[in-house]
Amino acid sequence: MDIMDEHKRKQRKDEHIKYGMLLEKKLKRNAFDDITILHNCLSEVDMESIDISTKLQSINLENPIIINAITGGTSQGKIINGKLAGIAKKLKVAMAVGSQKIALNNKDAVDSFKIVRKINPDGVVFANLSADSSVEEAKSAIEMIKADAIQLHLNVPQEVVMKEGQKKFTGLIDNIANLVQNIDIPIIVKEVGFGIAKEEALILAESGVKIIDVSGKGGTNFIEIEGRRGKSQASYHLRNWGIPTPISLIETIDATQDKVDVISSGGLKNGVDAAKSLALGAKAVGFAGYFLHILLSKGSLALEKYIIEIQKEIKYVMAMSGARNLEELKQRPVIINGKTYHWLKYRGIK
Ligand code: FNR
Repeated sequence: MDIMDEHKRKQRKDEHIKYGMLLEKKLKRNAFDDITILHNCLSEVDMESIDISTKLQSINLENPIIINAITGGTSQGKIINGKLAGIAKKLKVAMAVGSQKIALNNKDAVDSFKIVRKINPDGVVFANLSADSSVEEAKSAIEMIKADAIQLHLNVPQEVVMKEGQKKFTGLIDNIANLVQNIDIPIIVKEVGFGIAKEEALILAESGVKIIDVSGKGGTNFIEIEGRRGKSQASYHLRNWGIPTPISLIETIDATQDKVDVISSGGLKNGVDAAKSLALGAKAVGFAGYFLHILLSKGSLALEKYIIEIQKEIKYVMAMSGARNLEELKQRPVIINGKTYHWLKYRGIK
């Protein structure tokens, strides 16, 4: 990689944060408004003993919250990763780093990722690369932070609208299948904010993928972010592209049944969005843009308090639904209204 490429990649990382935060402030999330968990007036839950632990394949999580992939590779990224890792350690939440591609050919960038493992040696940490990466690249990303799992991101819309983005996507499915066969820790295939449909969820399951993060529409929007960076008109016209998170979650769970652990992310803002995701069958819940917004505008302590609040809200919902653990929450009926209802009906999903 020449110095110019490296400079541009670093600049892009920091611009993602800048424009992501500008857009985050404007967001009005509402896709989860279509979902209602049925109230239970005869709940016999003892709130002291509610269990919110969960599992992603072989990985045990004390609670279902994941700080999703955000950054690394720049000095700002190192500071952010360090702060997030401190919070992840204290609150025992899982954390993903941002794409490590930038560190594969550039030793200077490695520390901005390694810091996560240094600060949180025993926590659950996920590596992150694009799904078109090679087995060797995946192995070095995993080794770099001694990862418990690796996220492989799918970001076609972002690449399409990004001026300097990749324009050739052939061979992606075979590459994912090859990575699944040659990497010996769990692989999480994730979107970055446009969601996953049941057709593609099925292909991923058939390729051997055991964990999918739907990362649907409703929060961070990389078409808009790249639009701001590149001043693209198409980005404006395409700003509503994607599958809303609750819909993508239902589609993916419907297609993969019990063969895949599904993570809900994309526009989640609070514990009620998280609880609705878990009631729909998600095994865990990821937050990126909103956590970054709190961290950058109010600081680490505020984000720490907010994550504790999310855990509390999940427990409140569980108490009101009569659920003692996440398995029981999943059994509680959920009512689906509005656009989500019509979409699923049209798609033949019950
Ligand atoms: C991201 N996201 C992301 N995802 C990924 O797999 N690799 C990455 O490097 C990044 N980089 C990144 C930077 C910034 C600034 C943001 C806000 C997000 C995507 C992220 O993990 C998540 O999938 C989406 O942001 C949707 O979730 P939220 O932000 O709506 O909670």
